[in-house]
Amino acid sequence: MTSDRLAHGKGAEVHGIFEKIAGYYDRMNFVMTLGRHARWCREVAERVAPPAGGQLLDIATGTGVIALAAARRYPAVTVTGVDFSEEMLTHAKTKPGADAVRWRHAHAGSLPFEDESFDGITEGYLLRNVEDLAGVLREQHRVLKPGGRIVILETCPPSGPVKPVLEWGMRTIVPLLGQVVARDRSSYTYLESSTLAFDSPQQVADVLSGLGFQDIGWSKKFFGTNVILWATKSS
Ligand SMILES: C[S@@+](CC[C@H](N)C(=O)[O-])C[C@H]1O[C@@H](n2cnc3c(N)ncnc32)[C@H](O)[C@@H]1O
Repeated sequence: MTSDRLAHGKGAEVHGIFEKIAGYYDRMNFVMTLGRHARWCREVAERVAPPAGGQLLDIATGTGVIALAAARRYPAVTVTGVDFSEEMLTHAKTKPGADAVRWRHAHAGSLPFEDESFDGITEGYLLRNVEDLAGVLREQHRVLKPGGRIVILETCPPSGPVKPVLEWGMRTIVPLLGQVVARDRSSYTYLESSTLAFDSPQQVADVLSGLGFQDIGWSKKFFGTNVILWATKSS
């Protein structure tokens, strides 16, 4: 496992996983979401809607799918993508359009930006990987301008009558796909367990509300296993 000066505790474990899976991350995402991940990333970019000439930050940018979708959609916006995995950033930088994004190595818990620097923030699959959810969202609130929007793509613990079936499917299928597609069962066992243990959209919304975000909403995807949440920093 690769170590990182920015990662400690749970972060060090998560960092090691993403350093290891960077090369097959996009392929696995495609298979696990039946090709929907790219579409959700485009929806995240669409919902954040930064003003022309504005600044957009994509946190936990990984291989850059959201940042690149945003840069394509808003050519007049400066898009910055940050991640604490150098391997994931290396893959992002090789993609078509990558020159349009500023890539930075940074930890979501301590963003290297001034207060109120960004008109919008996006992130995909960060929150269930962090130890201090409220602390990470507080840091995003700090760097967001008043009136700025945050849009979050995250996995979602199943609920409702289909919950047992979906839990069984995730426990069985996700690690199996990891083994078959990526020859790495253990990293995808982490994905499944961190998803099932993560907060509901309502719990994330309560944290956002406590931090001073308003106009909070969400839309569940793919049988409720994924969710896009959005909120606005009070002016
Ligand atoms: C599942 S990937 C998501 C990548 C991309 N957002 C997407 O939707 O495809 C999660 C990313 O979060 C990054 N990450 C996890 N915890 C982080 C932290 N505390 N600070 C910065 N990046 C983090 C990982 O390195 C990884 O690239």
